[in-house]
Amino acid sequence: MESSAIILDGKSLSEKIRKEIREEIEGYVQKGYRPPCLAVVLVGEDPPSLVYVKNKRKACESVGIKSLFYHLPHNTNLSELLDLIAELNAREDVDGILVQLPLPNHIPMEEVILAISPKKDVDGFHPENMGRLLGRIEGGFIPCTPLGIDLLLKHYNIELKGKDVAIVGAGFIVGRPLSALLLWRDATVSVCHIHTKDIKKYTLEADILISATGVPHLIKGDMVKEGAVVVDVGISKVGEKILGDVDFEAVKEKAYAITPVPGGVGPMTVSALLLNTLKAYEKKTSLSIQPVIS
Ligand code: GUN
Repeated sequence: MESSAIILDGKSLSEKIRKEIREEIEGYVQKGYRPPCLAVVLVGEDPPSLVYVKNKRKACESVGIKSLFYHLPHNTNLSELLDLIAELNAREDVDGILVQLPLPNHIPMEEVILAISPKKDVDGFHPENMGRLLGRIEGGFIPCTPLGIDLLLKHYNIELKGKDVAIVGAGFIVGRPLSALLLWRDATVSVCHIHTKDIKKYTLEADILISATGVPHLIKGDMVKEGAVVVDVGISKVGEKILGDVDFEAVKEKAYAITPVPGGVGPMTVSALLLNTLKAYEKKTSLSIQPVIS
């Protein structure tokens, strides 16, 4: 019997990151600066989105980031949403803007993402930030889930350079930006998606396997190479249970290291959002934020 895998504990690393962020913000506030501020926009009542937005706002509060919440009705139209974004772009006291995805079907996501100022785009979805990521140009925002995964692997000294990585899922929020980030880290990256003929062919070869599909227990023990690092981005609610993309009990016997669900990538994504918001704030601080008390 193989020994069980190292657990990549995103929850405890997140607590450490959030403590550092909180201390940094306390330092700014003690010097008389206003705290950072994130505007969170949610359109409609998608149940998972309601939970994610609540968690993000709670995390902001826990580190001293002010959060503004704009909860718009499902029937909001594109121009109403663009008007709100224009207002938030112009506000000096708003550092970051997050429009929770998915949007209702009648609102084109691309138009909304293009409207957010790249300097306030703490999700890193604007083409300027995505382009910087692809071009290895420092100074942009890296999307939160890829950034969270990168920080988690770094913390556990998991080398990426020259490693074979298989990403399962080529979505806009995780798979595609993650592939660019891991290429930046000099990994050899394969991205599998719905049209991939034989996913197992790629996963079995992978030193690092990352699944971001939302299909519960898609990744079985026989799809994983002995000694691989396995990162599970999926979160699905099945009955009362929260399941990841990975069959954890089977895969942990083969893997060198594995993320749990919950407590792995999820908290790291939120911590990356806090880091991006702090970065947006600090970029402005040197330019325009004046101490509140002088
Ligand atoms: N929906 C699921 N993940 C994300 C995310 O990282 N950002 C936004 N804006 N929406 C999401």
